[in-house]
Amino acid sequence: MVPDEAKRTTMNLLLAGSVGLPVVAMAIPFFSFFVPVKAAGTGAGLVAKDALGNDVKKSEWLAKHQPGDHSLVQGLKGDATYLIVTSAGDVEKYGLNAVCTHLGCVVPWNAVEKKFICPCHGSQYNAEGFKVRGPAPLSLALAHVDVVEDLVSLTPWTETDFRDGGKPWWS
Ligand code: FES
Repeated sequence: MVPDEAKRTTMNLLLAGSVGLPVVAMAIPFFSFFVPVKAAGTGAGLVAKDALGNDVKKSEWLAKHQPGDHSLVQGLKGDATYLIVTSAGDVEKYGLNAVCTHLGCVVPWNAVEKKFICPCHGSQYNAEGFKVRGPAPLSLALAHVDVVEDLVSLTPWTETDFRDGGKPWWS
Protein backbone atom coordinates (compact mmCIF):
# COMPACT_ATOMS: atom_id res chain seq x y z
CA MET A 1 0.00 0.00 0.00
CA VAL A 2 1.43 3.39 -1.00
CA PRO A 3 1.59 6.03 1.76
CA ASP A 4 -1.23 8.16 0.27
CA GLU A 5 -3.51 5.17 -0.04
CA ALA A 6 -2.83 4.16 3.57
CA LYS A 7 -3.63 7.69 4.70
CA ARG A 8 -6.88 7.69 2.73
CA THR A 9 -7.88 4.35 4.23
CA THR A 10 -7.15 5.65 7.72
CA MET A 11 -9.18 8.80 7.06
CA ASN A 12 -12.08 6.73 5.71
CA LEU A 13 -12.05 4.54 8.80
CA LEU A 14 -12.01 7.57 11.09
CA LEU A 15 -14.87 9.13 9.14
CA ALA A 16 -16.91 5.93 9.26
CA GLY A 17 -16.29 5.72 12.98
CA SER A 18 -17.24 9.32 13.63
CA VAL A 19 -20.50 8.90 11.71
CA GLY A 20 -21.23 5.35 12.78
CA LEU A 21 -20.87 5.74 16.53
CA PRO A 22 -23.49 8.49 16.94
CA VAL A 23 -25.86 6.59 14.63
CA VAL A 24 -25.52 3.46 16.77
CA ALA A 25 -25.82 5.55 19.94
CA MET A 26 -29.09 7.02 18.67
CA ALA A 27 -30.40 3.76 17.24
CA ILE A 28 -30.24 1.80 20.50
CA PRO A 29 -32.69 3.98 22.46
CA PHE A 30 -34.85 4.37 19.34
CA PHE A 31 -35.34 0.65 18.87
CA SER A 32 -35.53 -0.09 22.60
CA PHE A 33 -38.58 2.20 22.64
CA PHE A 34 -40.47 -0.51 20.75
CA VAL A 35 -39.52 -3.29 23.16
CA PRO A 36 -42.25 -3.71 25.78
CA VAL A 37 -41.20 -3.04 29.36
CA LYS A 38 -41.27 -6.14 31.51
CA ALA A 39 -42.27 -5.99 35.12
CA ALA A 40 -39.30 -6.05 37.43
CA GLY A 41 -38.81 -9.45 38.93
CA THR A 42 -41.52 -11.31 36.97
CA GLY A 43 -39.57 -11.89 33.79
CA ALA A 44 -42.84 -12.24 31.87
CA GLY A 45 -45.40 -9.58 32.71
CA LEU A 46 -46.09 -6.42 30.75
CA VAL A 47 -46.52 -3.33 32.92
CA ALA A 48 -49.95 -1.78 32.37
CA LYS A 49 -49.99 1.87 31.23
CA ASP A 50 -52.49 4.55 32.18
CA ALA A 51 -54.13 7.03 29.78
CA LEU A 52 -50.99 9.18 29.82
CA GLY A 53 -48.70 6.25 29.07
CA ASN A 54 -47.31 6.04 32.60
CA ASP A 55 -46.75 2.77 34.44
CA VAL A 56 -49.75 1.82 36.56
CA LYS A 57 -48.80 1.65 40.24
CA LYS A 58 -51.15 -0.21 42.55
CA SER A 59 -50.88 2.29 45.41
CA GLU A 60 -51.72 5.25 43.14
CA TRP A 61 -54.44 3.32 41.30
CA LEU A 62 -56.24 2.31 44.50
CA ALA A 63 -56.02 5.86 45.84
CA LYS A 64 -58.09 7.01 42.84
CA HIS A 65 -60.37 4.01 42.15
CA GLN A 66 -63.04 2.76 44.52
CA PRO A 67 -64.17 -0.85 45.14
CA GLY A 68 -66.18 -2.13 42.17
CA ASP A 69 -64.39 0.20 39.76
CA HIS A 70 -63.70 -1.03 36.23
CA SER A 71 -61.28 1.33 34.46
CA LEU A 72 -59.18 1.05 31.34
CA VAL A 73 -55.44 0.67 31.02
CA GLN A 74 -53.27 -0.17 28.06
CA GLY A 75 -52.61 -3.88 28.29
CA LEU A 76 -51.20 -6.79 26.31
CA LYS A 77 -50.56 -6.02 22.62
CA GLY A 78 -51.68 -2.46 23.37
CA ASP A 79 -55.30 -3.59 23.84
CA ALA A 80 -57.57 -1.55 26.10
CA THR A 81 -57.96 -3.66 29.24
CA TYR A 82 -60.13 -3.19 32.30
CA LEU A 83 -58.50 -3.30 35.72
CA ILE A 84 -61.04 -4.16 38.39
CA VAL A 85 -61.00 -3.06 42.02
CA THR A 86 -62.42 -5.81 44.25
CA SER A 87 -65.05 -5.17 46.92
CA ALA A 88 -62.22 -5.49 49.46
CA GLY A 89 -60.38 -2.63 47.76
CA ASP A 90 -57.61 -4.59 46.06
CA VAL A 91 -56.66 -4.98 42.41
CA GLU A 92 -58.46 -8.00 40.95
CA LYS A 93 -56.25 -10.91 39.84
CA TYR A 94 -57.60 -10.75 36.30
CA GLY A 95 -58.19 -8.01 33.76
CA LEU A 96 -60.72 -7.90 30.92
CA ASN A 97 -59.92 -7.08 27.31
CA ALA A 98 -62.34 -4.28 26.38
CA VAL A 99 -62.72 -5.32 22.74
CA CYS A 100 -66.24 -6.59 22.01
CA THR A 101 -66.18 -10.12 20.62
CA HIS A 102 -68.82 -9.23 18.03
CA LEU A 103 -67.18 -6.70 15.72
CA GLY A 104 -64.49 -5.15 17.90
CA CYS A 105 -65.96 -2.00 19.45
CA VAL A 106 -64.49 -0.98 22.80
CA VAL A 107 -67.14 -1.87 25.37
CA PRO A 108 -67.78 0.70 28.13
CA TRP A 109 -68.47 -0.25 31.74
CA ASN A 110 -71.90 0.82 32.95
CA ALA A 111 -71.47 1.47 36.69
CA VAL A 112 -75.21 1.89 37.28
CA GLU A 113 -76.21 -1.42 35.68
CA LYS A 114 -72.95 -3.05 36.79
CA LYS A 115 -72.27 -4.59 33.39
CA PHE A 116 -70.56 -3.86 30.11
CA ILE A 117 -72.93 -2.71 27.37
CA CYS A 118 -71.59 -2.45 23.83
CA PRO A 119 -72.77 0.77 22.15
CA CYS A 120 -72.44 -0.72 18.67
CA HIS A 121 -75.02 -3.54 18.63
CA GLY A 122 -76.09 -3.94 22.26
CA SER A 123 -74.12 -6.96 23.44
CA GLN A 124 -73.82 -7.21 27.20
CA TYR A 125 -71.26 -8.75 29.54
CA ASN A 126 -71.50 -9.10 33.31
CA ALA A 127 -68.96 -7.58 35.72
CA GLU A 128 -66.61 -10.53 35.09
CA GLY A 129 -66.80 -10.02 31.32
CA PHE A 130 -69.03 -13.08 30.81
CA LYS A 131 -71.33 -12.63 27.81
CA VAL A 132 -74.95 -12.37 28.92
CA ARG A 133 -76.48 -11.01 25.70
CA GLY A 134 -75.53 -11.20 22.01
CA PRO A 135 -74.93 -10.71 19.22
CA ALA A 136 -71.42 -11.09 20.68
CA PRO A 137 -70.55 -14.79 20.45
CA LEU A 138 -68.02 -14.94 23.28
CA SER A 139 -67.08 -13.47 26.64
CA LEU A 140 -64.41 -10.78 26.98
CA ALA A 141 -60.85 -12.12 26.94
CA LEU A 142 -59.02 -12.47 30.26
CA ALA A 143 -55.47 -11.52 31.27
CA HIS A 144 -53.66 -12.27 34.51
CA VAL A 145 -52.96 -9.27 36.73
CA ASP A 146 -50.00 -9.33 39.13
CA VAL A 147 -48.40 -6.67 41.26
CA VAL A 148 -44.62 -6.64 41.53
CA GLU A 149 -42.98 -3.89 43.56
CA ASP A 150 -46.18 -1.83 43.24
CA LEU A 151 -46.24 -2.12 39.44
CA VAL A 152 -49.36 -3.67 37.93
CA SER A 153 -48.41 -6.15 35.25
CA LEU A 154 -50.40 -8.27 32.82
CA THR A 155 -49.65 -11.71 31.43
CA PRO A 156 -51.60 -13.81 28.92
CA TRP A 157 -54.34 -16.03 30.33
CA THR A 158 -53.87 -19.51 28.89
CA GLU A 159 -55.65 -21.60 31.52
CA THR A 160 -59.31 -22.60 31.70
CA ASP A 161 -61.78 -19.71 31.58
CA PHE A 162 -63.11 -19.71 35.15
CA ARG A 163 -66.40 -18.15 34.00
CA ASP A 164 -67.58 -21.08 31.88
CA GLY A 165 -64.99 -23.82 32.50
CA GLY A 166 -64.01 -23.83 28.81
CA LYS A 167 -60.75 -23.32 26.98
CA PRO A 168 -59.78 -19.68 26.45
CA TRP A 169 -60.86 -18.80 22.93
CA TRP A 170 -58.27 -15.97 22.72
CA SER A 171 -55.11 -18.06 23.17
FE1 FES B 1 -70.22 -5.00 20.21
FE2 FES B 1 -71.37 -5.48 17.85
S1 FES B 1 -69.38 -4.73 18.21
S2 FES B 1 -72.20 -5.73 19.81
